[in-house]
Amino acid sequence: MVMDYAAIEKDVANLPVTPNMPDYEALCGSWSWDAIRAELARPDGLVNQAYECIDRHALGASRDKDAMIWEATDGSIERYTFEGMRKQSNRFAGVLKGLGVQKADRVFFFADRIPELYFAIFGTLKTGAIAAPLFSAFGPVPVAERVRRADGIGIVTTLRLLPKIEAIRDACPSIKWVMVIDRNGDPVAGQNLDYQQLMAASSDEFAIERTGSEDWSIMHFTSGTTGLPKGAAHVHEAVTGHYATGKYVLDLHPDDIYWCTADPGWVTGTSYGIFAPWSNGVTQVIYEGGFGSAKWFEIIQRHKVTVWYTAPTAIRMLMKAGTAIPQRFDTSSLRYCMSVGEPLNPEGVIWGQEAFGLAFHDNWWQTETGAIMIANYPCLPIRPGSMGKPFPGIEAAIIDDEFHEITEPMREGQLAVKHPWPSMMRTYWNDKERYDSRFKGEWYITGDRAKRDADGYFWFIGRDDDVINTAGHLVGPFEVESALIEHPAVAEAGVIGKPDPVAMEIVKAFVSLKDGYEPTEALRRELIGHARARLGPGVAPREIDFLPTLPKTRSGKIMRRLLKARELGLPEGDTSTLED
Ligand code: PRX
Repeated sequence: MVMDYAAIEKDVANLPVTPNMPDYEALCGSWSWDAIRAELARPDGLVNQAYECIDRHALGASRDKDAMIWEATDGSIERYTFEGMRKQSNRFAGVLKGLGVQKADRVFFFADRIPELYFAIFGTLKTGAIAAPLFSAFGPVPVAERVRRADGIGIVTTLRLLPKIEAIRDACPSIKWVMVIDRNGDPVAGQNLDYQQLMAASSDEFAIERTGSEDWSIMHFTSGTTGLPKGAAHVHEAVTGHYATGKYVLDLHPDDIYWCTADPGWVTGTSYGIFAPWSNGVTQVIYEGGFGSAKWFEIIQRHKVTVWYTAPTAIRMLMKAGTAIPQRFDTSSLRYCMSVGEPLNPEGVIWGQEAFGLAFHDNWWQTETGAIMIANYPCLPIRPGSMGKPFPGIEAAIIDDEFHEITEPMREGQLAVKHPWPSMMRTYWNDKERYDSRFKGEWYITGDRAKRDADGYFWFIGRDDDVINTAGHLVGPFEVESALIEHPAVAEAGVIGKPDPVAMEIVKAFVSLKDGYEPTEALRRELIGHARARLGPGVAPREIDFLPTLPKTRSGKIMRRLLKARELGLPEGDTSTLED
């Protein structure tokens, strides 16, 4: 990571609003998670993320405040108050109860960013069941794998996405029902449940399940080097971390209009697109559509967004489109911008200043950690290219291969975080062994490599495994290789992340063919089509190369690192285990 960019200094006294954390060192010194819990406390000591985000505000002074300003892709706008969301989520909770859903059952979501998705996730949390949202651009195979992994009991989807669910329904025997949201209000045909009809017959009132801090709440799937994705399971106590980081990293104030561009199919879209903003009682904008450079600035202008949380790939796409676009819009409402999910290059940090006068604040965390662990803050100078400093109450370190802390500045090692903290996952669903393997003593091993400078800023170096980060989404090579091998022409497949100037990495596959198949352009296209239909466009390889045979260890494991080194023209490293 580059360190030759000047630090961006702050004039904290003259920021448009006084940061909730005006002094980083002081807050670190006095930090108490219990004090945070006290800000959220319910008289009876129960914790429920839906209550903290919605009912707590609906039952108080913010009852009629807008919680959600939703903009559809067709430009129409809908607004929902905290009280409106309380009632809608109660109705959905009643619907689930009527279906017999029990505490800790897994309810899956496969839907676009529409208001009903948010009502339904909160409704699920109110019943004590586990909400498991999936990215709507997934193909049927990743959906089925995840549903099976966690024995999902039901799936909430939309009419548009229903065909993908119908394609896998028989392969998911745990699924008892599929519920379809049709925003047009037309009756849902066939054996599927009709969201609108069930909601109309349900009640505005619901007695929230008596969930405690360690009861399950949400599950997100994340990829590893080997095997299929794992379900990182979180508990209601995570809201303590979401609320605290919403207050001190997102710096949310009561009058903010906040916009997080992430999809709730990924953890950023729930921790920071649902729980952090709403536990802090702020109004948030939700845009149904995807990326669009002019469109995004139009949204900032129209809704007077003040705090914006987005991702490096999006920033790099905005950079490509140029500063002339933001300058056509009135972005004067913006006061604070952040980025997460992949390394944000210094040029990206600085581009915000050129384009609309504000630098991007990078921060770091993972599906597993549940909330932001390392961040840049409004009150601290930014060192462009650095992820920032640990959140108060969080101890992060660089450790060596023997799991000893490296104190010497700028020495590379594994990034580790001292366990525990409130938002940490409590297990990988049905895979405790894997969960346990992530810890060494008191350290949680993140799987990333990094270094720390003499002033305590952390600098990301890269991942310590074969997981691919494409446009901020993690893709496990094994999942892609498995889909490729299903094709009759493919003998072996090895999948790597190939560096890309915009998406950071793209998924690239190497395949060897079975006897009788020729490596033609037509077959390459067919394989790409095969993978896209099964996995969805964000997971399928963008490039496929044919090789006569793939490099393997003597025990038959494909050497992805060697494929990558050869692709990039880098030294091949230790090849002593390579088969002859
Ligand atoms: O490799 C790191 C990268 O994304 C991983 C976490 O991805 P995921 O579990 O999908 O969580 C998404 C929520 C952030 C990390 O292990 N990553 C995340 N943030 C950064 C990052 N890499 C560099 N800089 C970051 N700010």
